[in-house]
Amino acid sequence: MNSAHKKHFHWWYIPLGLVVILLVAILAFALWAHRFLPWKNMIAFTSNLRLELSESTKNYVTSGERDYSTLPEVLTMADGTPVQTVEDFAARRQEILDLFEQNVYGTLPKDGFTTSFEVLEEGSALNGAAIRRQVKISVTTDKGTSDALLLMYLPQSEKPVPVVLGLNFKGNHTVFADEAILPSYSTEADDETLLEERGIKAERWNIEQAIARGYGIATIFCDDFAPDNADTYNTRVISLFDEPEFKAVGAWAFGIMRGVDYLVQQPEVDTNRIVDIGHSRLGKAAVWAGANDERIALVISNDSGNTGATLTRSNHGETMKSINAMFPHWFCTQYKEYGAAANALPVDQHLLLACIAPRKVYVANANDDLWADPQGAWNSLLASRPAFELYGQAVISEDCLAEGETQPHAGQSVWSADMGYHKRSGWHDIQSEDWAFYLDYMDQYLAG
Ligand code: GCU
Repeated sequence: MNSAHKKHFHWWYIPLGLVVILLVAILAFALWAHRFLPWKNMIAFTSNLRLELSESTKNYVTSGERDYSTLPEVLTMADGTPVQTVEDFAARRQEILDLFEQNVYGTLPKDGFTTSFEVLEEGSALNGAAIRRQVKISVTTDKGTSDALLLMYLPQSEKPVPVVLGLNFKGNHTVFADEAILPSYSTEADDETLLEERGIKAERWNIEQAIARGYGIATIFCDDFAPDNADTYNTRVISLFDEPEFKAVGAWAFGIMRGVDYLVQQPEVDTNRIVDIGHSRLGKAAVWAGANDERIALVISNDSGNTGATLTRSNHGETMKSINAMFPHWFCTQYKEYGAAANALPVDQHLLLACIAPRKVYVANANDDLWADPQGAWNSLLASRPAFELYGQAVISEDCLAEGETQPHAGQSVWSADMGYHKRSGWHDIQSEDWAFYLDYMDQYLAG
């Protein structure tokens, strides 16, 4: 035998094998124990991977079947009375909002506080194409005051401009690489980290593109209202109220509404064109704020998923039981009482979208973001239509679907004057491709 071809066992095969086994074990452990890991933002990733690996996901992806037999009707009051006119719907809308407050999001304070504003900084930005303004928003009750820092860029314009307002996840300094951005009140980053993190989330905000197209952008760090942490969520604005059911998503929605309080007082802002946007958990808050606050003309939900735009009864992707276990500080105590029994809920998320009528609603998903259940979000938007139709608004139709499809495909957008949907290819995120869809939609249907 030719000894040159003889296979030799090398000593380093053993450590190499051990390292491979260790890596596989770490990955398996991370998938198994993912909800206990400290990186909450990884949960969407590990959960998605688990879904990808599971049989049920294959059914979900191919069939899109749902049992919606207990989905509450938009145009029927809880006592069974039919809703026939827009006047009737005003009462139904209030009933729906109350039910969401009692059963899902918890308290949303409407009075018992004052809001005041102080401009801390203003300057020219984007080589003169915009002005930047930073405003302290203070909420005060008889228990004290809590501050939040709003960062706004407005295009130079003779006329009032539409403004897109949304909360950010990591602090105002992350949304744009602008040295003048002040650190958000609740940021924990030190000076060095602030520098390193400057502008790292710029793609999520697309400020240059928005300004070039005539839109203002306003944002506030969500933690300024409620830190996203089960132990400390109630240390800021929530601590000003004696409301144990005022929870984090409720505080974020409350924060968006305080941002609107500021915007409606600004002569540079077109108050008929205030847009509320949110991604993921902040999309849940955006939908809750948008359903409540009639000053918002267009509500945009980007990958908001469970307890956002997606139907809870869809029971795919993230479930009610799992979201309540992983994020106990987001929603009210009563919501947890339902356990896994989505059919027992007196509401579902299409009713929340319905409360946006007669204003405009836009829902977007990403194709690989199964955790946020794109099929359930599409079905939710369709199921909300009766409210918009009652007002004579233009709604989207499932006729846009190709044969055999149960939801739009990646890259597809489906728009009517009062409703929008798009599906981006790829992963859970908000990217410039999403913004391009939103800005095009607004150019077409939210023109001044
Ligand atoms: C987790 C959570 C989702 C949430 C998402 C996010 O994945 O389970 O409900 O939308 O985080 O905010 O990115």
